[in-house]
Amino acid sequence: PGSLITVASLSVAETSSILSTTAKLAAMPAAEKATLLAGRRIALLFYESSTRTRTSFELAAKSLGATTTLVSDKSSSIEKGESLKDTGLTLRALGAECIILRHNAGGAPFVLARTTGLPVLNAGDGMHQHPSQALLDLRTILTRLGLDATRVDETSLKGVTVTITGDIRHSRVARSNAMLLPRLGAKVLLCGPPELLPEEALTLGEGVEIVRDFDTALRRSQVAMMLRIQRERLAGLELDLTEYTTNYQLNEDRLARCAPKALVMHPGPMIRGLEIQGEVADGPNSAIEDQVGHGLAVRAALLVRALGVEL
Ligand code: CP
Repeated sequence: PGSLITVASLSVAETSSILSTTAKLAAMPAAEKATLLAGRRIALLFYESSTRTRTSFELAAKSLGATTTLVSDKSSSIEKGESLKDTGLTLRALGAECIILRHNAGGAPFVLARTTGLPVLNAGDGMHQHPSQALLDLRTILTRLGLDATRVDETSLKGVTVTITGDIRHSRVARSNAMLLPRLGAKVLLCGPPELLPEEALTLGEGVEIVRDFDTALRRSQVAMMLRIQRERLAGLELDLTEYTTNYQLNEDRLARCAPKALVMHPGPMIRGLEIQGEVADGPNSAIEDQVGHGLAVRAALLVRALGVEL
């Protein structure tokens, strides 16, 4: 109980409850908020690098009064060969009541939750899931489109089309968003070169469509979510980056021609000049910094939920 490992197990009612908790926490005076997890211990266990997810979980936990500790694969006994199970049991023996895990292997958070019995928050597992990212993206979309961000139902995103463009095949962010947003009424278009798209049979639920041509997808969209090419997951696949940029970069010209009002999103880290032009990332359509802020808010709610605190 309290774990969040995949969006697949998150009902619309639970999604709504997390958004409601997020809104309550955001409105709460800092001093009151800082009592909610006072004396509680939270471990951050990171097998892959991270800036946004790690820092926002850590700052969120501290804003709630919790004590945090970070274990990274690069500076711990993981380097000496200690297993995920033994690392988790060690953290539990040290008093951790919740573990936030980023791991390069899909499914690792399930293993950690089973072996430790602790609530586990998935901070990204391989190419599988990044549920807190999808929730913060949802809050960003609702807020920027002027919709109710305190609760959702199956129709909250009716009439909203979100194009996710780039390295869909290797993206846990795309997988989580393509699962979450259509449940709330959104249409999700997946766009990119064939070698970076999922094999159709594998993937797609209701409300999800593959559209190869970026301009066509953009013309249908209220939201353009751009993804980084994940070189670390390409496994030898060679991409022609000049061709990629020509066909799939979100630049000022393309945005003005195809979707001048679209909200521009990117989970980060972004590579300016590759999947997105710097001017677009910094421009008026961009919600990229908003996403970071909503990450802090949503992750506070996930920690409160994980530790069973009622507001
Ligand atoms: N979006 C995201 O997961 O960013 P980090 O890898 O910096 O945490």
